[in-house]
Formats: sequence, structure tokens, C-alpha cells
Amino acid sequence: MTLLSSFGERLNVVVVGATGGIGGAFVDLLEASDRVERVFAFSRSGQSRPGHKIVRGIIDYNSEETIVAAAQRVATWGPCQLVVVATGFLHDGQGEGPEKSFRSLTAESLSTSFQVNTIGPALVARQFLPLLSRDSKAVFAALSARVGSISDNRLGGWYGYRASKAALNMTIKSLAIELSRNRPQTICVGLHPGTVDTALSKPFQSGVAADALFEPLAAAERLLTVVDCLTPDHSGQTFAWDGSPIPF
Ligand SMILES: NC(=O)c1ccc[n+]([C@@H]2O[C@H](COP(=O)([O-])OP(=O)(O)OC[C@H]3O[C@@H](n4cnc5c(N)ncnc54)[C@H](OP(=O)(O)O)[C@@H]3O)[C@@H](O)[C@H]2O)c1
Repeated sequence: MTLLSSFGERLNVVVVGATGGIGGAFVDLLEASDRVERVFAFSRSGQSRPGHKIVRGIIDYNSEETIVAAAQRVATWGPCQLVVVATGFLHDGQGEGPEKSFRSLTAESLSTSFQVNTIGPALVARQFLPLLSRDSKAVFAALSARVGSISDNRLGGWYGYRASKAALNMTIKSLAIELSRNRPQTICVGLHPGTVDTALSKPFQSGVAADALFEPLAAAERLLTVVDCLTPDHSGQTFAWDGSPIPF
């Protein structure tokens, strides 16, 4: 499969959350693409996988300075054509959350959900949108989730995750409207990867049919196919791995 054939050649691409399950898969696929010249791989530790096309660095949402410094570093290499934000928070890995009932809502866990799922990606947009190429296709894509859809919420629960992803979707919509005024070639979307076998979904995989649990590489490849098909008319929406739009 030819990845990113709707983009030009010698692409500079950015992945934020490069140590994550899906983020790491994006880095692998993008590094393997002949079209890509350089992959900027950012993570909290800065210790994502090394590689000959990979430039590694730190982005930690608990420190806005790391986002500013990362963008300044990328800017020295010229414009980018694709920024993928693959960070996310659902549970702390210690058995806490997501909330099943309003009785377990806490300021701390709501705040972490919004910090990682909404505020961090918004601040990445602030610093990295100006770096996107103005004279060719350029995409800013943030990993969202179907459960962030308000109209699709039939089960309730997962308060912080659902609300912070809904807020991310709204942020993407506003960014798209603003960009359409002075950067009409720049596309800004949310992406839902399906249920993917990563640390984030691990505690919730028991009820998922085997053929509905995707490997990270397969999920990232499907999402890059979706990104490849995007035009400016799609900006502001959130798309699932199969290309179908997710209602707000
Ligand atoms: N897996 C699924 O089934 C599924 C389904 C729907 C949507 N999604 C979305 O897909 C995206 C990727 O999820 P995943 O499954 O790949 O999860 P993952 O393996 O847990 O990766 C999450 C990533 O977010 C990073 N991160 C967490 N807190 C951060 C912070 N404060 N600052 C900077 N980075 C931070 C993690 O960094 P560290 O490596 O340093 O911890 C890691 O790179 C998320 O937005 C998630 O909501 C996933």
C-alpha cells in the first residue's frame, strides 16, 4: 500500500505520543514510507524508538514549555505536512477509573482527563498549526474516540474520558473554522481508531470480539488511509478507522 499518496514527497511529519501503542505504530509506518523524509517523534520521556529518519524529543502536557520548545525545534527543519496527536488518558494503570457512576467523580481524575485529552492537544495545535505547509495538503489529526460522541452515548459512565473527548471534538471543529479563513488547505480532524490492543484498552478487552480488537499497526495504517482521503471539505469532523464520520 502506498501511504500518503495525496501528499507531496519529502514529507516532514510529527507524532505526539510516540511511546504509546498507536503512536508507536504511526512512527513505524511513517518511517517506512518512501514519501517521508523525517519523523519527529515526541513523548513524555523522549525515549521512543530510535531510527534513521526519526528525530526524538519531549512533549509532556504537564509542562507547556516542552510543547513550545518542541515546535521551535521542528520549525528549524522547515514546514510539516502532517501532525498526529496520539496521546490519551483513560485510566491510571493502577486500577483507578474510568468512572462508572457520578459517585466516583473526583476533581483529580476529571482534571487529568481534560489535561491529557483536551488541553494538551489544543496546546499542540497552538504551537504546531503555524508550522504546517501552506502550499500543499497539510493535516492536523488528533486521536479522539467514538465515546466522545454525545448523540452516540447510550451507556453513560466514563465521565471524564467521554467529556474530554467531546471537548476535543469541539476544539477541532473551532480550529477547522478558523483555519478555513486563512489556511484553506489545512485540514483538522479527529480520528477514532476502533478498539486497539494497547495499554489504554487492556482492562476493557474481555467483552470485545477477537475480530473487533485491532493490532496497533493495522489501526494506524487504516487511519493513515483515512488521512490520505481527506480534503478541506472534511475539516472539523471526527472520522472512524473505516472512514465513516462520527456524529457529534
Ligand atoms: N486503544 C483503544 O482501543 C482506543 C480506542 C479509542 C480511542 N483511542 C485513543 O487513541 C489514542 C492513543 O491511545 P493508545 O491506545 O495508543 O494508548 P496508550 O498506549 O496508553 O498511549 C497513550 C499515550 O499518551 C501519552 N500520554 C499520557 N499522558 C500524557 C501526558 N501528560 N503528556 C504527554 N503524553 C501523555 C502516553 O505517554 P507515556 O508512554 O509516557 O505514558 C502514551 O504515549 C488516545 O487518544 C486514545 O484515547 C484508543
